[in-house]
Amino acid sequence: MGQLTIQPIEDGDVEAVVGLWRRCELTVPHNDPHKDIEFARGGPASDVLIGLFDGKLVASAMVGHDGHRGAVYYVATDPGVRGMGLGRAIMEAAEEWLADRGVWKLNLVIRDTNLAVKAFYESIGYDEEPRASMAKRLGNGG
Ligand SMILES: CC(C)(COP(=O)(O)OP(=O)(O)OC[C@H]1O[C@@H](n2cnc3c(N)ncnc32)[C@H](O)[C@@H]1OP(=O)(O)O)[C@@H](O)C(=O)NCCC(=O)NCCS
Repeated sequence: MGQLTIQPIEDGDVEAVVGLWRRCELTVPHNDPHKDIEFARGGPASDVLIGLFDGKLVASAMVGHDGHRGAVYYVATDPGVRGMGLGRAIMEAAEEWLADRGVWKLNLVIRDTNLAVKAFYESIGYDEEPRASMAKRLGNGG
């Protein structure tokens, strides 16, 4: 049985992480994954965690907080290794990353094209809250 190691992304992992996100259909035209990784790595309040199974990149979670709540993005496990507990493990690592920094609540957003994934989050302890999600793109090139 292989071993899962979870650690922060390093420079040499970036292309493999982008490849994982593409295989998991998490990339969309309006988000540049390289820019997203660079921005998440640029400060102390966010990072990208990766999961290596026998040395092969199989999982990821971008994690961060805004001084109040924690958030995760790009939660992914490789299609070839799903249902083995790796999604749970990378989420536990993200929760621990936040808890270590004093954050006590994690909010996450699921695209309406991906609502089937709710069952995954429910099975690891997340509840749906009655909230409306609103957003605005800021005019700084993002
Ligand atoms: C969602 C995802 C990360 C789950 O990863 P995984 O490695 O299969 O998850 P785990 O094996 O740790 O599963 C943990 C629990 O969730 C359940 N689960 C996982 N995927 C599920 C699904 N699609 N439907 C129902 N339950 C699911 C498992 O049965 C397991 O439950 P259990 O502990 O009660 O047995 C993976 O399917 C994925 O990468 N999907 C594509 C990317 C994506 O949509 N990410 C989320 C963006 S919001």
